[in-house]
Amino acid sequence: MRSEWAEPIQSIIKMATFTERMAPVLLLWLAVCLSGTWAVDRGNFKTCDQSAFCKRQRALKPGQSPYRALLETLELTNTRLTLQLINDNNKVRLLLELYRLQGNMTRVKINELKPLKPRYEVPDVLIQEPPTEPMSLLSQDENGVVLSLGAESQRVIVSARPFRLDIMEGREVLMSVNSRGLLAFEHLRMRKDTQADPEAEKKEEADPANQAEEAVNEEEEKVEDGMWEETFKSHSDSKPNGPSAVSLDFSLPGVEHVYGIPEHADTLKLKTTDGGDPYRLYNLDVFQYELYNPMALYGAVPVMLAHNAQRTTGIFWLNAAETWVDISSNTAGKTVFGKMLDYVQGSSETPQTDVRWISESGIIDVFVMLGPKPQDVFSQYASLTGTQAFPPLSALAYHQCRWNYNDQEDVQAVDAGFDQHDIPYDFIWLDIEHTDGKRYFTWDPHKFATPRDMLQGIMDKKRKMVAIVDPHIKVDSNYKIHNEIRSRGYYIKNKDGGDYEGWCWPGNAGYPDFTNPEMRAWWASMFAYDQYEGSMENLYTWNDMNEPSVFNGPEVTMHKDAVHGAWEHRDLHNLYGFYVQMATAEGLVQRSGGVERPFVLTRAFFAGSQRYGAVWTGDNAAEWDHLKISIPMCLSLGLVGVSFCGADVGGFFKTPSSELLVRWYQTGAYQPFFRAHAHLDTPRREPWLFGPENTALIREAVRQRYALLPYWYQLFYHAYRTGHPVMRPLWVEYPQDTATFAMDDQFLIGRDLLVHPVTEEGARGITAYLPGKGEVWFDVHTFQKHNGAQNLYVPVTMSSIPVYQRGGSIIPRKIRVRRSSTCMEHDPYTLYVALSPQRTAEGELYIDDGHTFNFNKKEFIHRRLSFANNVLSSINLAPDAQFSTQSWIERILILGASKPSKVTLKTADGQESQLEFDFDASMSVLTLRKPGMNAGADWTVVLQ
Ligand code: NOJ
Repeated sequence: MRSEWAEPIQSIIKMATFTERMAPVLLLWLAVCLSGTWAVDRGNFKTCDQSAFCKRQRALKPGQSPYRALLETLELTNTRLTLQLINDNNKVRLLLELYRLQGNMTRVKINELKPLKPRYEVPDVLIQEPPTEPMSLLSQDENGVVLSLGAESQRVIVSARPFRLDIMEGREVLMSVNSRGLLAFEHLRMRKDTQADPEAEKKEEADPANQAEEAVNEEEEKVEDGMWEETFKSHSDSKPNGPSAVSLDFSLPGVEHVYGIPEHADTLKLKTTDGGDPYRLYNLDVFQYELYNPMALYGAVPVMLAHNAQRTTGIFWLNAAETWVDISSNTAGKTVFGKMLDYVQGSSETPQTDVRWISESGIIDVFVMLGPKPQDVFSQYASLTGTQAFPPLSALAYHQCRWNYNDQEDVQAVDAGFDQHDIPYDFIWLDIEHTDGKRYFTWDPHKFATPRDMLQGIMDKKRKMVAIVDPHIKVDSNYKIHNEIRSRGYYIKNKDGGDYEGWCWPGNAGYPDFTNPEMRAWWASMFAYDQYEGSMENLYTWNDMNEPSVFNGPEVTMHKDAVHGAWEHRDLHNLYGFYVQMATAEGLVQRSGGVERPFVLTRAFFAGSQRYGAVWTGDNAAEWDHLKISIPMCLSLGLVGVSFCGADVGGFFKTPSSELLVRWYQTGAYQPFFRAHAHLDTPRREPWLFGPENTALIREAVRQRYALLPYWYQLFYHAYRTGHPVMRPLWVEYPQDTATFAMDDQFLIGRDLLVHPVTEEGARGITAYLPGKGEVWFDVHTFQKHNGAQNLYVPVTMSSIPVYQRGGSIIPRKIRVRRSSTCMEHDPYTLYVALSPQRTAEGELYIDDGHTFNFNKKEFIHRRLSFANNVLSSINLAPDAQFSTQSWIERILILGASKPSKVTLKTADGQESQLEFDFDASMSVLTLRKPGMNAGADWTVVLQ
């Protein structure tokens, strides 16, 4: 056993003597430490069949909907329709609410008309009560009603028997709801077979609305296995509220491609789930997760996008309980040839994808986002849940992490190693071992005795640090944080009312109730410099294990019958990590008096988490397939608003070959969150440990990242403003090009850079698809021009990172790479102008101080750069904003240019000067040397 394991294992052995329930955890640990075998233990996690509500719901067959709309109950105000639905089997009534929302969205809410007690409605995720638009009744008869939706030519048809909704535009059905009749709503009820609460029962019987239903209810309320309690492995779930699942189906005519619902280690295009398990959304700490399957992972964003060449739409299922999503399609399994044959024979039916969402509790609250363009769906979703936090610029640079940097000397040596090897980095990370016995907000008194000296040393180099702060709190009466949380009553409670306790890194731990705003405010206050001893302004935070991970809990997480105030953990499980990151980010903002932008990395997340920082894909492995999956995993997150995504560079578990490590750096350098990380038990892998050649390759990849930071930063500014993803699938920009609809091996950064990293072992070449008929793409390294749309075979060597700039774009870079991004703050820019076949190009330049919120006070520079008619100009996009920069334009490269006879620079004060230039005729590259204008100024450059 390696020495690094000794401490965790010893503490676990000690803990294990307290309870037999620790046995499986202990065995798991020992198996991992001793055997070195890899692969998820599927037996630790439920299949749909082992999850009682999922099994119950999935057993319902289409076409037998018991739900009928009671049209006589319809009420329509200007902006709200309500209508009762009745389940003809048990006579329980539901209330449907329908809203037309501004920005081409429709909201459908379904709850019990008279629930026995309130059902959970997800708070804090929507940034506001979504503004509505008027609806009006177009027609009504005994079969249903037709409403007009907003200004578009859209209607919704509400059919009564069985209940269904069809959202139409013109003659086209965009989406149907309950068209397969799989709406199910398990109403809250009293338990009849055991000790029911006689008082509540009397009340229920006294209510006249319930009496007529009683006889049928008896029949319906037959107790099935798993309704009132459920056991998984040694864990029992007491289910005090009984069955409470909700479910609904959606049909998407004309759709063959659906995306989103992260987090899964699967392809970008979601697969049909017939014959297998549905995709599961339940935040879990999955040890050694497997690829290409629908098992749940650390985070959950219940948002699905549907795309075809005409339209993109989205479904946002706002429910934070355990959720399963089934996908089926009438074209699944058909080959392209089969589809063509259908077409030729005239036998093809319209392709259609059907999806069905099933959640364990809460209500149905669905936002149907009607596009029509991909960018519209991003804006629609952003208007509901907010946009990506605008990170400090340095957070977009390179991060060096491992579990663990052992002590201050180690940190200093690694820091110096980067300088010795001339590799830039911005953040060095400390994992759990830096604490005093896994007590977060503390430092190991021996290994990290003078943290402020350490942080100052890093600050002197204009670098930063991240320390981990997990949400499990060691139960230890000598630990201030624990004592405060306990005495304030901030811990989550167990079903019997005591503080919930579970095992995690520190041994026995309590879990603060982050759903409680008071608790969050208190937690945020703990980041104040006088509370978090040893912290300084260049120390940022990593929230891990916030699914939450409970080593001895069911499925390694919290018992669903744990209690958060009025709610069960079951109702809000998927929100826990969201709240942890929210409170932490708030803490970092507050400690600076609201001035500085925070940086917080989280492992667990939910819809809206994008507002609080970055996410990463958890404990991957040093395997080629894990490198490959990082692309669709981050693309899926970007589609649902979470742009700031990355995977552990090098792979967390196992040891990468130097080839894999280099390829991973090359890929990670072009993904939004760029951090190397490694498991405690792996050999050290700082970039210079693999021989000079590999060091040089890694250095080059990292330097490419640094040179492109101005572009990354500008894209994050846009993501913050609009919610559009930074790392994008090609179909987002080429929505009609069906060849792009299922690509997992290449992606775009913004609109203008196409990346096809090398992710195959021993690769001699890759085939990149360059989209856009009539467009051109320039190799960013050689400036060679290629036509779109084509599959381009590119021979590669170990130094190749195939990246192409779109003809028609202008990208700013800073090519004097230094120790850290902050050291490059005032450096000059080089503009890469890649001409379209029409000899035009457009781009932007965004500059601010890189770290404060002052951009909200209009302290920034935002320029439009454009090239047309042989004139390149910089125009102020934000005339009312004010910021000054020392940075100037030191070089302009025009790709695809012809040779001018002279080049004239005109500045705002009317001055004209001739610029020196070189022309490379073989590559048609014109280089303007030292034009010298300030990056924030108005200017034009005229080619003659
Ligand atoms: C699990 C995280 O996923 C991993 O990145 C981290 O190193 C360990 N916890 C230890 O904190």
